[in-house]
Amino acid sequence: MKILQVKDQQAGGRAGYEVFAEAVKNGAQVFGLATGSTPISIYDELKASDLDFSDKISINLDEYKGLPGTHEQSYRYFMNEHLFNAKPFKESYVPDGMADTETETKRYEGIIDANPIDLQILGLGQNGHIGFNEPGTPFDSLTHEVTLTESTIEANARFFENENEVPRYAYSMGIGSIMKAKQILLVAYGAAKADAVAAMIEGPVTEEMPASILQKHANVTVIIDEAAGAKL
Ligand code: GLP
Repeated sequence: MKILQVKDQQAGGRAGYEVFAEAVKNGAQVFGLATGSTPISIYDELKASDLDFSDKISINLDEYKGLPGTHEQSYRYFMNEHLFNAKPFKESYVPDGMADTETETKRYEGIIDANPIDLQILGLGQNGHIGFNEPGTPFDSLTHEVTLTESTIEANARFFENENEVPRYAYSMGIGSIMKAKQILLVAYGAAKADAVAAMIEGPVTEEMPASILQKHANVTVIIDEAAGAKL
């Protein structure tokens, strides 16, 4: 793993942008994208840049089950607001939160197989989740329906009117789907992520810490700020 420690989220945005720009220069066509507050500064840099994605494909990690893409808290809506409206891709895939589990999980994994991801960006949950793959998710899992843990529901409640409105289920690429990406960029900021960052990089590779699998991937860059790296 290549670790880049940056001053703050803004500097992380620039560092993340560099990784994207390099991938584009090297011919990357398919970008795996993430939601959450962490990648926003990278998306801001992408929007401000002259990079052109109009002939490229994006595939998002996950979506809340039960929310239509028009819902303000859906990840489709988030992506439109933070990136796609300003920087359209030829095709942008996000799981359909309104579709049934069996059909949607198969369809989505098929999309990943038909469009191998060149660069996958990841945030990090406080409990080490990537995408919505909570602790205990098998490392060989493909796109599946997940039941969110209480800690994830609490962490995401800040975006909803109250905790009861946070969906309990989501569709997420599996850990096996994520590991198919040729290159991975994981980004984490703030003291709340410090334990997960240390376990991901220095701890044992265990399904109890989903992000620890990245130790086994050949091409991973990690961008952290000082607070997130404090326990390394
Ligand atoms: C959600 C998303 C993850 C994201 C995580 C961290 O659970 N499904 O993909 O990494 O939140 O969010 P944040 O970047 O806001 O800390």
